[in-house]
Amino acid sequence: MSRILAAVAWPYANGPRHIGHVSGFGVPSDVFARYMRMAGHDVLMVSGSDEHGTAIQVKADSEGLTARETADKYHGQIVSDLQGLGLSYDLYTRTTTPNHCHVVQEMFTALYENGYVFAKTQMGAISPSTGRTLPDRFIEGTCPICGYDNARGDQCDNCGNQLDPADLINPKSKINGETPEFVETEHFFLDLPKVAPQLAAWLDSREDWRPNVLKFSHNLLKEIRERAITRDLDWGVPIPLDGWRDAQMKRIYVWFDAVIGYLSAAVEWAKRSGDPDAWRAFWNDPAAKSYYFMGKDNIVFHSVIWPGILLGANGQGEVGGTVRPELGELQLPTEVVSSEFMTMKGSKVSSSRGASIFVGDFLAEFGPDALRYYIAVAGPENQDTDFTWEEFVRRTNFELANEWGNLVNRSVSMAHKNNGGIPLPGEFTDEDRALLEASAAAFDVVGEHIAARRFKAGITEAMRIVSLANKYLSDMEPWKLKDDPARRDTVLHVALQVVSDANTLLTPYLPHSAQKVFELLGGEGVWAAQPQIVEVTDGDLTYPTLQGDYAAQQATWASRPIEPGTPLYKPTPLFAKLDEKLGQTGPDWAPIAEK
Ligand code: MF3
Ligand code: ZN
Repeated sequence: MSRILAAVAWPYANGPRHIGHVSGFGVPSDVFARYMRMAGHDVLMVSGSDEHGTAIQVKADSEGLTARETADKYHGQIVSDLQGLGLSYDLYTRTTTPNHCHVVQEMFTALYENGYVFAKTQMGAISPSTGRTLPDRFIEGTCPICGYDNARGDQCDNCGNQLDPADLINPKSKINGETPEFVETEHFFLDLPKVAPQLAAWLDSREDWRPNVLKFSHNLLKEIRERAITRDLDWGVPIPLDGWRDAQMKRIYVWFDAVIGYLSAAVEWAKRSGDPDAWRAFWNDPAAKSYYFMGKDNIVFHSVIWPGILLGANGQGEVGGTVRPELGELQLPTEVVSSEFMTMKGSKVSSSRGASIFVGDFLAEFGPDALRYYIAVAGPENQDTDFTWEEFVRRTNFELANEWGNLVNRSVSMAHKNNGGIPLPGEFTDEDRALLEASAAAFDVVGEHIAARRFKAGITEAMRIVSLANKYLSDMEPWKLKDDPARRDTVLHVALQVVSDANTLLTPYLPHSAQKVFELLGGEGVWAAQPQIVEVTDGDLTYPTLQGDYAAQQATWASRPIEPGTPLYKPTPLFAKLDEKLGQTGPDWAPIAEK
């Protein structure tokens, strides 16, 4: 049994999330966490809404709301989308809580006192029309390193280098196109060069990372330099130092605050669990493992900045320092698990519809497991991958409905009709044994794939067992065995056992339909637990979170022998087939734009 932190990237609360977002951080982390729990590990899966910074302010301005109102609105919407998708967070919270503010300030102070944060006057970008800081991400210009035209102020997506907006050639505001003004302003900086050798040693010691993520991270280290971690802004965590605490227009930079969310959410979870120190087993114990899930645009923050923050807070960089007892020695990530991008070239939504395929709309029409299946089997695990409605229809109709849904349906229907329940098997033939052995053996194979973050390979193997079972039924033709009921019972028994096995193998991927199949096979109670929306308070703030009682679920990673005599009822189809037309048009809430 290991302790495993599943640390999931925090979505911005500046709008509803689209399916590309959840293909990066959402479904992969949930498949992993659900499998690890089934395999008997102690999992803590945390995340929340990322609510500070300019992304939220800009949205608020555009909607005539305050930043707080905007964060409330979209946090609520994201919570309900993620719940609908069945993402099994132990705690999904937000960054605007008093608890988070406290933990961020603790970390800031730890770094400052250890000598990894220093103040310096620099040139900062201001919008001439509003007087407000123009954040790095909202400035665009030509990359001074590679010449790419659409580099952002914080990062060039072409060469991957971290940038300062003042370095950009011909900078422009992305908000209104004006040329930013650069003024002198004092900021605090994270002294990353002082932890660079330790970061390099840590990266060198990483094993089994996805090769492109590791390579990208090594390259980032070559360009390492100090990073400003404060901004001229009034929406964010105040700086916990005398003279700065009450400064109206100085706040901690949103990315510095957001990554600390992994820690603060664990602290909040522990408080709510009744054992305020429970987070330490996941953070202070070197034997605990931590996996961070995200899309590739987040890599630099997780494989350089976050471990850099942790090293500095621990006092483990070039200038030493001490461990703060409140925090203890914090463990660095075991792995940064990054997906590539899900692109929308073949399914561009006309911009009058918001130009995105939103998770909420998707769930309302197709349900969670069809989306989870698509992302797992055809998502951007190792390379950019285009989402198309045609492919979605094909995967849903031919794989989910025809292969898996149909296997369940015909096995359960036949047993219900002929036996009224799970039949007693007679002697097994070689074919029976071969199928049972293949499905029993798949537990190790699929489990190893998921544990190694190869989610696509895992579901492909699970679906291979489904195909074998379908082929077995076609070969054995139990519907023609009216005159040999003993043999028919054996065949149906074998088929139902493999349905049960395949259902277990698919549970991390398809937890909603797994619960249904469990019940179709006569199971009672919770097979795969789902997250619940729970209103909580922290100080003056009341807000919805996601939490779940995953320890109460029955699903474990093993074949469960089915019990002859268990009554079976007539099943309803697991997955509805989609109209082929959808592949050409898209749904009416996200129609494919005319080319
Ligand atoms: N909000 C960021 C994004 O959507 C991700 C933040 S991840 C965290 O790109 F680590 F900072 F929390
Ligand atoms: Zn560049």
